[in-house]
Amino acid sequence: MSTINSFHYFIQEGRGDEVLEPTLATLENYTKIHFATEEDLMQRAGFPDLEKHKALHRTLMKKTTDISRESIYLKDPDMALKFLKEWWLGHINVEDRKYSPYVRKLTKT
Ligand SMILES: [Fe+2]
Repeated sequence: MSTINSFHYFIQEGRGDEVLEPTLATLENYTKIHFATEEDLMQRAGFPDLEKHKALHRTLMKKTTDISRESIYLKDPDMALKFLKEWWLGHINVEDRKYSPYVRKLTKT
């Protein structure tokens, strides 16, 4: 996702500290909207593991908030980037793929 890519770019340029706070603020807002949209879609598509997926979202949201605070406090943009790559992209690449066949059916009807 583009926020993570630009964050990566700024860290490589040695300007990670500058963009750490605004990046994480953007990401927290984006995460909330993304999860809400996704949960709505999964419900409409009749995804059977909706509750399990919602629980994953809650955990990921909490981790995002915790890591945001910690990395800002420690002024450690690399910590935030590592988390985003491992957890955020991991969730999208593994968990979100599970509901896509259901949503595909929904958009066909
Ligand atoms: Fe998800």
